[in-house]
Amino acid sequence: MVTRREFVKGAAVFATASLFRLDPSSAASRQRPFRMPLRIPPVAVPSRSDDGSDLYEVVMRRARVSLLSDKRTVAWTFDGAFPGPTIKATRGREVVVRRFNRLDVPSSVHLHGAKVAAHNDGHPTDVIDPGDVKEYSYPNDQPGATLWYHDHTHHHTSRNNYRGLSGLYIIEDPDEEELNLPKGKHDIPLVLQDRSFRADASFRFRSHHDSVTGNSILVNGRPAPFFKVANRRYRFRILNASNSRGYSLALDPTAPLIQIASDGGLLAAPAPTSELTLFPAERADVVIDFAQFPVGSSVLLQDVDPADPSKKRAVLRFDISRGEPDPSSIPASLGPVERLVPDGAQREFNLSLDVDRNRWVINGKIFNPDRIDVRPQAGATELWTFRNQSSTTHPMHIHLVQFQILQRSNMAVALGEAGWKDTVRVDPSATVQLAVRFPTGYSGRYMIHCHNLAHEDHSMMAQMLVA
Ligand code: C2O
Ligand code: CU
Ligand code: CU
Repeated sequence: MVTRREFVKGAAVFATASLFRLDPSSAASRQRPFRMPLRIPPVAVPSRSDDGSDLYEVVMRRARVSLLSDKRTVAWTFDGAFPGPTIKATRGREVVVRRFNRLDVPSSVHLHGAKVAAHNDGHPTDVIDPGDVKEYSYPNDQPGATLWYHDHTHHHTSRNNYRGLSGLYIIEDPDEEELNLPKGKHDIPLVLQDRSFRADASFRFRSHHDSVTGNSILVNGRPAPFFKVANRRYRFRILNASNSRGYSLALDPTAPLIQIASDGGLLAAPAPTSELTLFPAERADVVIDFAQFPVGSSVLLQDVDPADPSKKRAVLRFDISRGEPDPSSIPASLGPVERLVPDGAQREFNLSLDVDRNRWVINGKIFNPDRIDVRPQAGATELWTFRNQSSTTHPMHIHLVQFQILQRSNMAVALGEAGWKDTVRVDPSATVQLAVRFPTGYSGRYMIHCHNLAHEDHSMMAQMLVA
């Protein structure tokens, strides 16, 4: 509980203190909310470009990063940035990323949501050893989307991500231009990560088989920042890069979040919602129209506790600070999304806790990199069922593909989930059915796993061999 003493700096601040429920012993709780401006992660610059491809060279290294206002935090980073630098790719144009590992641990790096060859996918055992370098090639042969890259090392994904090894990867699609969506400095990434800090601002990471949560919510690496906006539309690309925590995001005062894209790209039509649920690894692009608020006012983005909606945590404050003309629009139709129809194998994945071994398992099995669990055919569209036999939510992710959600046993499929997805929340005791199409031209080993990173490490992961 936050007491008045920690927030003596002013009555206005105290009013928001209850929104910022933090462990008072942590370094972050000494910080007043909305004290630091939102930061935008740096955009990576290619070290070489030619007709068909851009080359990026990235050094994975320890760095002292500024997350809290007073002290620095030692993080494991891509090029010293937390979150890592955003890579901007163009649909149809290859990106090559040469990653130098100057950490003292091995690391495998995966591009989440991308259709890539198996040897570039960042298999958990395909690590870059300390001192080594590995080149990853990404064809970007898929629609524009907000993807992300992150460490995927066998048994250590949770720790390595917590310490900082993730960043955004945005595929820009020239076809989007004509939609006239907000762009440029009105197209803003928001990476959500919860972390706990010790008094000296170092990360307090505890390895758990269950969940790893932190008591402060960072947006682009800062706890509850503020962001000055004009009274117009903005596009926000929201990524839940947290290890285990899900968010239910809502604005206060209440106003719609107009979702325009899900994990794999644009929806067929905008989907307005008052509350946006994002579990780990899920993304949503939303438009907020600040023209509905007076200049000089503020709007809070909050994380609402689904079990008790009166409990809210501050995520970000938008300060509508100036008038500005708005040439952007949100078209009623964003473009066709082809409907997938299963025509291949049907598969079931039961998700449960193996109490004897204290491990999360898929179909009763602990992950084994030497075992192939499913063998899909390239070109087929399969019907997959995830059945959650536990009392906790599992955000299930499939590499290589963008799938579609056909049905949920416990509720209707939300409009914002009706497009391309690579990660799907499976609610406790519920079942989700998917249509999963395997692209032609891609074969080899890919992963299927829970994206609660503690579950993934221990050991809710399976392996597929696409042929
Ligand atoms: Cu986001 Cu297998 O990963
Ligand atoms: Cu992935
Ligand atoms: Cu899980």
